[in-house]
Amino acid sequence: MISIKDFERSDIEYILDEASKLENIAKSKEVCEELKGKILSLMFFEPSTRTKMSFETAIKRLGGECIGFENSRSSSVSKGESIADTAKMFEGYSDALVIRHEYEGVSKFISDIVDVPVINAGDGAGQHPTQTLLDLFTIKKEIGEIDNLKIALIGDLKFGRTVHSLANALGLFKNMKIYLVSPPELKMPNEILHDLNKTNIEYEEVESIEKIIDDVNVLYITRIQKERFVDIEDYIKIKGAYIINKKMLEGKDLIVMHPLPRIDEIDSDVDNTKYNKYFSQAANAVPVRMAILNTLIKNNPK
Ligand code: NCD
Repeated sequence: MISIKDFERSDIEYILDEASKLENIAKSKEVCEELKGKILSLMFFEPSTRTKMSFETAIKRLGGECIGFENSRSSSVSKGESIADTAKMFEGYSDALVIRHEYEGVSKFISDIVDVPVINAGDGAGQHPTQTLLDLFTIKKEIGEIDNLKIALIGDLKFGRTVHSLANALGLFKNMKIYLVSPPELKMPNEILHDLNKTNIEYEEVESIEKIIDDVNVLYITRIQKERFVDIEDYIKIKGAYIINKKMLEGKDLIVMHPLPRIDEIDSDVDNTKYNKYFSQAANAVPVRMAILNTLIKNNPK
């Protein structure tokens, strides 16, 4: 599972349906035996809270276990071992690999050299397909459908891998419009616009939230990806460009989503309103990642 671009609509619907079936186990904090005896490798070369913890929770609720590391310093990569050798080791120890790395393409590279399923948990400014599946699960659960929606993707559209994957996935649905809201320096890359041009999705690039807030079902806001800036001065100029607060939302019929972590994009006064769907979005990671693991590991003949 490297890029959401490899998915058809029916693949996405399959995972979302499977996740719905597993939601009870996730919610009631039970454990089943679906993946009893299976071991998942978590290879996190880049920091993570939600993605790593929810994969860990997902495999444990399915009756399996996990091994791994949470930064390059705690693996032999810090001694100079290649990523390829490290991946080969984990292939020998486990049934699937979850990889997060600061460079785009690393999960693809690993998937080409190992024989177990590989899941991209975020590769640089590239893709984050499992986040997209839980984002779509949240939209479907909260709004009832994914077709016929107007969704604003806001913030760092240049470096944000969650919005790259999500934009690609939304292109598979019907009668959709997306507003791409960013400062000029952080616009959606041409490659993704090119992908969108090949679908029926309508998109519009704008610079202010005020312009679109009355017209959308979902505000999907993202953090400016500080770690991807070569010159920190460029980050300082842009940070704080978009902030949503309770007052802006009053009277609107929409939901607010965020892949988290948030820095200052959503004022904490939104947390206790009906608009806040970002915490349940984070919780939805467990049933969705359970569905992903079940699909890839249980059904894998190896
Ligand atoms: C995102 C990521 O790592 O790309 N976080 C996540 O997985 N929920 C978003 C981010 O770091 O801004």
